[in-house]
Amino acid sequence: MPRARDRPATALMTRVVVIGAGIAGLISAWALSDDVDSVVVHDAGLTGQASPVAAGMLASAAELADGEEALHALAARSVRGWPELAGRLRDAGGVDVGLRDEGTLLLSLHRDDDAELDRHARRLARLGLPPARLDARTCRRLEPALSSAVRAGLRLEDDLSVDTTAVLAALRGALRRRGVEIRSGAVEPVRTGERVTGVRLSSGDVHPANVVVLAAGAHSRPLAARVGLEVGVRPVKGELLRLRTHTPVLTCTLRAQVDGVPVYLVPRRNGEVVVGATSDDCGFDTRRTPRAALDLLLAATAVVPELRDAELVSHDVGLRPGTADNGPYLGEAAPGLVVATGHYRHGYLLAPATAVAVRHAVLGTAAWPEAVPFRPHRPVDQKVGLP
Ligand code: GLY
Repeated sequence: MPRARDRPATALMTRVVVIGAGIAGLISAWALSDDVDSVVVHDAGLTGQASPVAAGMLASAAELADGEEALHALAARSVRGWPELAGRLRDAGGVDVGLRDEGTLLLSLHRDDDAELDRHARRLARLGLPPARLDARTCRRLEPALSSAVRAGLRLEDDLSVDTTAVLAALRGALRRRGVEIRSGAVEPVRTGERVTGVRLSSGDVHPANVVVLAAGAHSRPLAARVGLEVGVRPVKGELLRLRTHTPVLTCTLRAQVDGVPVYLVPRRNGEVVVGATSDDCGFDTRRTPRAALDLLLAATAVVPELRDAELVSHDVGLRPGTADNGPYLGEAAPGLVVATGHYRHGYLLAPATAVAVRHAVLGTAAWPEAVPFRPHRPVDQKVGLP
């Protein structure tokens, strides 16, 4: 499809409405904004939005799980798109999204965890990505603040991270400069016959669109149900803490298991460390619990003892949009409806992949073969489809 401004005035207008102003919605709007006639993003202020509180790990190697090789392939390609995306966002509005390339250190603090490091090394080796195995002294040379309890580590050099607050601000600013309106208030998709034809505002008015992009994270399922579509997304609660030290204590992202509690620590350049995250399948529960705070603080300070003296900046909850196979739904789900949801733990990591998939669905541009397994109508237990 030619760019909107290059098309004759008589050509059909393409009006896009995006439901959701998290990372998936904003990146979808950004991906389309130069090539369609209008894009409006509806920020419904949905409870438990994951994007503003996410740690921003772009960690395709660290987060690889057994049986998720297809997801890893998509994630590994997507992460390679981040340096260009970060550069384009900087050019668009001068915002530095804090892209860091020091990688991840997976750590073992207990004899039992040595075996898990070995398993993860074998998982990556099977994909042709054998990581470097480090002894305790080398780990501490890389990160002097590490506890003396650290026994060994795996260095995953290709993992990146971003400052999620900066990414959202950069995207919002860049969209406004491109004339994309970001409206507040609840909306739901509406259908005329077999086609989704726009969104209904809380006033009852309908905002017509040729394409609606559903990017409402954990809330996508009830919204899709309004047009008779089943989108298999469920909320998976995560609690995170933000700590701040006067001078930065870390450079790499750290991951470890402490007394059965999995923990990650993601450093920001301003001295903040994001500590996450719990994982609970408990519906739309956004309560901040003492248990999560205790578990995360005990685990984080066991890995980096000097964080005991850090400032405790915040304790937040995000509802990850989980799916049956942990992969996203990307593409046309029904006539007039494109879905960009179900990113689960990987909203930021998969942002470049989401941009490409949404452009493919709306504009017919080239798709990534790695995205094919994540088409909306794939056969999984909780599927997407019109009944
Ligand atoms: N990707 C980090 C998390 O979901 O907690």
